[in-house]
Amino acid sequence: MDKRKIIIDTDTGSDDAVAIIMALREPDVEVVAFTTVSGNVELDKATVNCLQSIEYAGTYAPPVYAGCAKPLVCELETADQVHGMDGMGDCPWLRKPAMKVSPGHAVDRILEIIDEGDGDIEILAIGPLTNIASAIIQRRDIMRKVPHITVMGGAHPHSNPHTVCAEFNVMCDPEAADIVLDSGIPVTMVTLEACFGDMKFTGEELDGIKSINELGAFCVDCNRTLTDMNEKVFGRRELDLPDPAAFAAFIRPELIKTSFRAYTRVELKGKYTRGATIFFHEEPDEFDDMFRFKRHPANSTVVTAIDGKGFKDYLIELIRK
Ligand code: BDR
Ligand code: CA
Repeated sequence: MDKRKIIIDTDTGSDDAVAIIMALREPDVEVVAFTTVSGNVELDKATVNCLQSIEYAGTYAPPVYAGCAKPLVCELETADQVHGMDGMGDCPWLRKPAMKVSPGHAVDRILEIIDEGDGDIEILAIGPLTNIASAIIQRRDIMRKVPHITVMGGAHPHSNPHTVCAEFNVMCDPEAADIVLDSGIPVTMVTLEACFGDMKFTGEELDGIKSINELGAFCVDCNRTLTDMNEKVFGRRELDLPDPAAFAAFIRPELIKTSFRAYTRVELKGKYTRGATIFFHEEPDEFDDMFRFKRHPANSTVVTAIDGKGFKDYLIELIRK
């Protein structure tokens, strides 16, 4: 099988780090480039964290291009309470990266790579969609060559620590997410729901991963801010890993348990609902007479559940390799 080629766009915080490691250790994937964006942390930190994760992965080193430092319209809201001040759990024992960022702005590089490619380079977006939307705004014609975008993003009404009804990546830059959804590029959205339930790692499972090797310890340690927060809030050590879940859904679609097709857009005006993803479920044509609102063809596949055991086994397999 030919390797699937991807650009990974990331606001590298601690779960992005695990997704980066998985992608670089998956033999069926070739990461053509990483592009960084502000989100979980400010752009500079996201870029350093991306370089650090690449070095820990210990395989090959695609170029890393830094992109947008601010959302398209709103102010940046970071998530240090979830990922730590440095985005990686503030662990002084982790090795700093020796690799350097590559020259050029991420948006320009995305456009060049897609333009020079054969229409086979996909995108995995695991941060706010500012870079991808900026590329679409600049050269929609070039971005039309992207065959598919997998996004970690969106949720049914669901709270995160910042808002009551939106998932972080969409909440952080709602205008950008809406531009991507409305671009005509096929999108798979891996929602927050798909990352919970039996997708969460228990304290015991985390200890197991930590004991595998140095890489396992890195994956667990860099996520310690969230693990500690969960312990404080829910009374048990546990960890969800949304970005690794999105990577797994991308390369191992057989792990997806439930999904639906929908015309998905983002609420941009609501006082309480800004950033909420609105799903118009695809319905059979014979229902046409019933609906009083304008219906649109589906623009997305929305993933709502992933096989937790299969996902965990897959992550452990990649860490052991
Ligand atoms: C998403 O936001 C961040 O906290 C994670 O890195 C993930 O991309 C989850 O809502
Ligand atoms: Ca992320």
